[in-house]
Amino acid sequence: MISARAAFHPSPAARELTVDTVEVAEPGPGLVRVRLGASGVCGSDRHVLDGEWSMPSPTVLGHEGAGTVESMGEGVTDLEEGDHVIITWFQPCLRCSSCAEGRTWVCDNASSEGCRLPDGSTPLRKDDREAFPYLAVGSMAEYAVVPRHALVPISREVPFDVAALIGCSVVTGFGAVVNDAGVQAGRSALVIGAGGVGLSLIMSLVAAGAGKIIAADINPEALALAEEFGATHTVLSNGDLPDKVREITGHGVDYAFEAIGRPETIGIMPDCVRRGGKAVIVGLPPEDAPVSVDALALAEQGKTLIGSNYGSTVPPRDFPLLAQLYLSGRLPIDRLITRRFALEDVNEAFSLMRAGAAGRSVIVY
Ligand SMILES: NC(=O)c1ccc[n+]([C@@H]2O[C@H](COP(=O)([O-])OP(=O)(O)OC[C@H]3O[C@@H](n4cnc5c(N)ncnc54)[C@H](O)[C@@H]3O)[C@@H](O)[C@H]2O)c1
Ligand SMILES: [Zn+2]
Ligand SMILES: [Zn+2]
Repeated sequence: MISARAAFHPSPAARELTVDTVEVAEPGPGLVRVRLGASGVCGSDRHVLDGEWSMPSPTVLGHEGAGTVESMGEGVTDLEEGDHVIITWFQPCLRCSSCAEGRTWVCDNASSEGCRLPDGSTPLRKDDREAFPYLAVGSMAEYAVVPRHALVPISREVPFDVAALIGCSVVTGFGAVVNDAGVQAGRSALVIGAGGVGLSLIMSLVAAGAGKIIAADINPEALALAEEFGATHTVLSNGDLPDKVREITGHGVDYAFEAIGRPETIGIMPDCVRRGGKAVIVGLPPEDAPVSVDALALAEQGKTLIGSNYGSTVPPRDFPLLAQLYLSGRLPIDRLITRRFALEDVNEAFSLMRAGAAGRSVIVY
């Protein structure tokens, strides 16, 4: 065991994280201990902190992290101490039928969803009680212990803050565009919500050669940033988004992406896409918040509404590819980072997120 500073959600009712010392286990067989270099602050962490999703507690938040290999358990032979790695938060079992088909992103038994290691244990303790790494990552801590297959080695040329964002917002946006929507060059797209995930969608749409790219948000600063990332049109969102989208495109967009997690904005997506268009749910609503959709119009107009988890990504394939796109200047991931915080100031990062501050906050160690 070693001691580490960590930011954890102490109880379901708490709306602030506690920053204190936790005990981190030695890595057992097949496990690796990572010394974190950076952790992004993602909307999915805020859902937990704001009590919108139930999680075991205490939970060390953070699932968008990168760092260096500090030590390895028995059987881990293909990494070396000091290697730079990105941690993935969706850790498939590699045994179920989906994994066998190569569709690891829809694994039936991802242990990370229960915030536990594959053997059901947790590597963290607080005051002699179990503590849980959020999504089996827990990157808002100086150290994390994860299975070897949760790590993707990455070039040392990629700074940790950029690498961390590849581990959630960037790969989620890129994968939703490329894998889930299958965006074709020249086609039009709408992104509702231009936060960390929305801006990642926009830069990926640019990389995929989309034509008109419409960004909608309630924050003018977020829209200004969206234009910097390549949005061709912006809409300061209110109730008439479908009309605004038709004014810009004539008949609706080819693809729409919701990147907030609000039932209302998810429900209006089908009304924003043209006949035969595709609407992709990326933002995650609170638990028990059903979405109302005009099913008659959806069917009669041949539209598709799909969900996207982690951009249907294969991390060992996609993380190095995204790192390369960053290094060659094709994906300006560093420009997503608008604020850097020490771990001790993590609550300020969440206050700014709740207030709708533009861009991404990153915790640097
Ligand atoms: N599907 C996945 O695999 C996946 C992965 C990562 C994150 N997410 C989800 O994506 C969502 C966004 O995450 P994020 O980190 O980008 O959050 P964020 O807080 O950085 O961004 C949210 C953006 O939405 C805007 N917004 C809020 N209310 C709005 C409204 N009514 N109309 C228009 N814009 C509005 C905010 O101004 C902000 O710019 C969250 O629900 C998160 O859980 C999903
Ligand atoms: Zn995330
Ligand atoms: Zn599986």
